[in-house]
Amino acid sequence: WLLPAFVLLIGYLLGSIPFGLLLTRFAGAGDLRKIGSGNIGATNVLRTGRKGLAAATLLLDLLKGGAAVLVGAALVEGGGPMAGAMAFIGHCYPVWLRFAGGKGVATMMGVVTALYWPAGIVFAVVWLGALFGTKWSSVGGMAAAMSAPVAMWCFGRIDLVPVALALALIVLWRHRENIARLLRGTEPKVGASKKAPT
Ligand code: G3P
Repeated sequence: WLLPAFVLLIGYLLGSIPFGLLLTRFAGAGDLRKIGSGNIGATNVLRTGRKGLAAATLLLDLLKGGAAVLVGAALVEGGGPMAGAMAFIGHCYPVWLRFAGGKGVATMMGVVTALYWPAGIVFAVVWLGALFGTKWSSVGGMAAAMSAPVAMWCFGRIDLVPVALALALIVLWRHRENIARLLRGTEPKVGASKKAPT
C-alpha cells in the first residue's frame, strides 16, 4: 500500500504547484488573487496584460497534470488515472493556498491527454471552438471538460469514463461563480475587460 500512497502524494504535490500565482509574483505583476476573478489560472494571468506569462501558466498547469499521470503509471500498474486525478485535486485544492486553488481546466487537459491522447485532441478542439465561438473562457473550459467523459465513452475507453466524469463535474463546481455571472449576463469576455466583476 505504501507505493500507491506515494503515487497519490506525488500526484497531489505536483498538481498543487500554483504556477500562475508564482509566475505572476516573480514577474512583479502582483498578487493574482487580488486581480480580476482572483483565480490562479491562465485566464486570470491574461488579465494582468502579460500574454507570455498566461501562455506559460497554461502550459505548465497542463504539463504538471500530464507528468503526474506518467509518473503514476511508471510507478504502479494502473497508477496513471489516480495520480492524474490527485494532481487535478492538488491544483483545485492546494494545501499551500489553504485549499483555495484553480478551476482545473488546463490541468485536466494534461491529465486527459496523458491518459488517452485522442480524448486530449477532442478536449483541445472543443476548448478552442467554444472559447473562440463564445469569447467566454469559462464556457470553453466547461465545454471541454464535459467533452472528456463523452470522448472516452465514444472511443471505447469505458475504463476512463469515471475519472473523466468526476473531473468534469469538479470543473463545473469550480466554475459556479462563472455560471452565476453567465446567468446574470456579467461574465467578461476574453480580451474585453481586464476585470471580472464579482
Ligand atoms: O479555467 C478558468 C477559466 O475557465 C475561467 O477563469 O478567471 O475567468 O474565472 P476566470
